[in-house]
Amino acid sequence: MELKERIFKDRNVLSPHYVPDELPFRQKEIEEIMRSVLPATAGQKPKNLFVYGKPGTGKTCSVKRVMEKVGKNPGKASLAYINCRIYNSRYRIMQKILKQFVPELEKSGFGLPYLYEKMIEIMGRGTQLVVVLDEVDMIKDLDELVYTLTRSNDETKIGGITLIGISNKLSFKNDLDPRSKSSLYENEMVFAPYTAVQLQQILRQRAGLGIRAGCFDESAVNLASAIAAQETGDARYALKLFEKAAEIAEYGGKEKITDMEVEGARKRVEIDLAGETVNTLPENHQLVLYAIAKLTLSGSRYSKLEFENESGFLISGEVYEEYERVARGAGKRARSSRWYKEYLSDLETLGLVTLTLSGKGLRGHTTLIKLGYDAKGMLGLLAPKLGGASNG
Ligand SMILES: Nc1ncnc2c1ncn2[C@@H]1O[C@H](COP(=O)(O)OP(=O)(O)OP(=O)(O)O)[C@@H](O)[C@H]1O
Ligand SMILES: [Mg+2]
Repeated sequence: MELKERIFKDRNVLSPHYVPDELPFRQKEIEEIMRSVLPATAGQKPKNLFVYGKPGTGKTCSVKRVMEKVGKNPGKASLAYINCRIYNSRYRIMQKILKQFVPELEKSGFGLPYLYEKMIEIMGRGTQLVVVLDEVDMIKDLDELVYTLTRSNDETKIGGITLIGISNKLSFKNDLDPRSKSSLYENEMVFAPYTAVQLQQILRQRAGLGIRAGCFDESAVNLASAIAAQETGDARYALKLFEKAAEIAEYGGKEKITDMEVEGARKRVEIDLAGETVNTLPENHQLVLYAIAKLTLSGSRYSKLEFENESGFLISGEVYEEYERVARGAGKRARSSRWYKEYLSDLETLGLVTLTLSGKGLRGHTTLIKLGYDAKGMLGLLAPKLGGASNG
C-alpha cells in the first residue's frame, strides 16, 4: 500500500541537508572565494582563507559550491574537503588529503614522516593543493597541523598548499599559537546572519519545490523566517522549523501549513535541542527539572501568580516539595535545600529555567522559577529517564 502524502511534494528538498542549485544571497561570497582559489588552477599559490560566520549562514554550502565549480576545470589545483568533526587530528587529516594520490594510505601504520615526505613529493609535481578544513575548531592539534603543512609548503619549489578554514566559533582564534593564527588568517571573510526577509526567500524557494501548491500559507513562511531571524539568522533552523511544521500538518491531517503548525514546530524543535542538554544532566538535576515541568503543567498552587506582568512562575518552596515527591517516586531521596539551590542555579546557567528574585511584596523574598520550555515536551523528555518518578 502506498502512503500518499498530501502536503509534501518532495520532502527531501525541505531538509537542511539539501543544497539548492541557486544559493540566494551568497553569490557575492561564492564569487569572492572563487576569485581567491582560482590562481591555484594556474599553478600559483592562493592565500590562505578563513571563513567565519554563525551556524547556518551558508558557509559549508557556499565553499562546497566553489569546490564543485573549480573541480570541473581544476588545472593544476587539487581540492580536498575535510569535515574536521570526523577527521580531527593532524595525522588523520594528512592521511585523508593524501589518500586521493596514494591509495594504499587507506591502511594505517604509516608514520607521520612518511606522510610528510609524500606531501612534499606530490607538491613537487607542481600540484597546488587546496584543503578546506570545515569546522576547523574541532582539530585537536591544529597548531601542529598548520605548522606541518606550512612547513611542507615552504619546502617545495613549484607546488604548494592552501588552507581554507571554516568555523562558527569566534573565540577559538585566541587559543591558537600566534604563528598558526597569522598563517590561517591571511585572508578573512565573514558570513553575516540572514535577515528575516532573506530567510523568507530561502524558505519560499524550498517550499515551492517541496510542498504541493496551495498547501502552505505565505504567513507561515513569514512566521518561521521571523522566528529564525530573531534567534540567530540561521537558515538551518528556519528549514527545520518549516519541515517540522509541514510534518505536523501532514500527519495531523491538515489541509495546509499555517501559523499554528509553525508555532507547534517551534516548541518541538526547541525541545529536541533541549533534549541534548537534558541527556547529559546528573540525576538530581533531572529530578528538579522534572518537578518544575510537572508543577508548571498542573499549575502553581499560587495560580494567580504574576510577576511584572508575566505568568507561569513557580515558587521555590513548592518546587522543593515536588522535588521531594518525585524523588521518592523514583526510589531516591531528595538532597538538602542547599543542594537544591545549586541545582536550580545550574539549570539556569544551562538556559533550562529562569530564576527571578521576587520583591518584598510577594510572599517575602523568594525565588521565582520559570521553565524555559514547553512543559509537556519537557516531561516527555524526562519521564522515560526517571522511570517511577512519573507516578510519584
Ligand atoms: N543562501 C542559501 N540559500 C538556500 N539555502 C541555504 C542558504 N544558506 C544556507 N542554506 C541551507 O541551510 C543549510 C545549512 O547551511 P550550511 O551548512 O552551509 O551552514 P554553515 O554556515 O556551514 O553552518 P555551521 O556553522 O553550523 O556549519 C544548507 O544545507 C542549506 O540547506
Ligand atoms: Mg558548516
